[in-house]
Amino acid sequence: MHQLAVFGNPIAHSKSPQIHQLFAAQHGLDISCERILVPANDFEQCANRFLDSGGVGFNITAPCKQDAFDFSEQHSKAAKLARAVNTVSVRDGVIHGDNTDGAGLINDIQNNLGWSIKDKSILILGAGGAVSGVVGDVLLSGPRMLHILNRTLSKAQEIERVHGDTRLCAVATLEHAYDVIINATSAGLKGEPLALPTSIVSEASRCYDMTYGISKGKATTPFLSWSEEQGADDLADGLGMLVEQAAQGFKIWFDVDVETASVIEALRVER
Ligand code: ATR
Repeated sequence: MHQLAVFGNPIAHSKSPQIHQLFAAQHGLDISCERILVPANDFEQCANRFLDSGGVGFNITAPCKQDAFDFSEQHSKAAKLARAVNTVSVRDGVIHGDNTDGAGLINDIQNNLGWSIKDKSILILGAGGAVSGVVGDVLLSGPRMLHILNRTLSKAQEIERVHGDTRLCAVATLEHAYDVIINATSAGLKGEPLALPTSIVSEASRCYDMTYGISKGKATTPFLSWSEEQGADDLADGLGMLVEQAAQGFKIWFDVDVETASVIEALRVER
């Protein structure tokens, strides 16, 4: 039995155990995947306890991704850029921290949805941990421009500074339509409005919400409902990203590729 886990607070809602069980079934692997609720300031102790008990590796969700970065002894390039870790593995006794959120987002957008990033104008809304984790991979996909808009401008400017890429710009105002708009704020989750100018959405715009809440092609997050009203060309929520980032983690732990479409579909149907 290979022991996996997902750490966070809250954690009861996490779909990671179910996702990893579906991946494991594809390869006939016997796994367990426990949800571990991390009390404040207790990440290191929880993580050590899990690894000492024979854990293969684990995923980390909010608010523990920075703690997981500090806990890791080695970091992937993506984790270094994000200064956050969502996947921990142990290699030759060394604790290795990865960040697969960006790869998960890009795989979902490009491979599952068939949307293009290359040479497109991209707008990301928000500048919190979720954005830090994905900006590097979005830039690697070759956008013409990547604008970041955040309620607190200085946080978007800090992400711009860290990456130092001429295509990346923290913006205070929005003046034109974008090809792809990605919502990475937590406004919708908190039931708060996200005031945006209608001019950012054209009939060619594709709108992605990194939170999930869409079933059978119908928009159900506030951002996606708004985008639909503005006449966006296509909409998607973050369920595919969740599965794709987990798939990258599964590969890190077991060195096997998994098929994701059926897993996304299984989770979609279940809701
Ligand atoms: P996460 O790890 O999910 O990114 P976070 O680091 O707390 O969570 O970031 C939440 C993001 O949503 C931030 O960009 C936040 O804006 P601020 O940096 O100004 O706080 C954004 N956000 C949350 N509520 C919002 C609201 N009501 N309107 C606009 N942006 C909001």
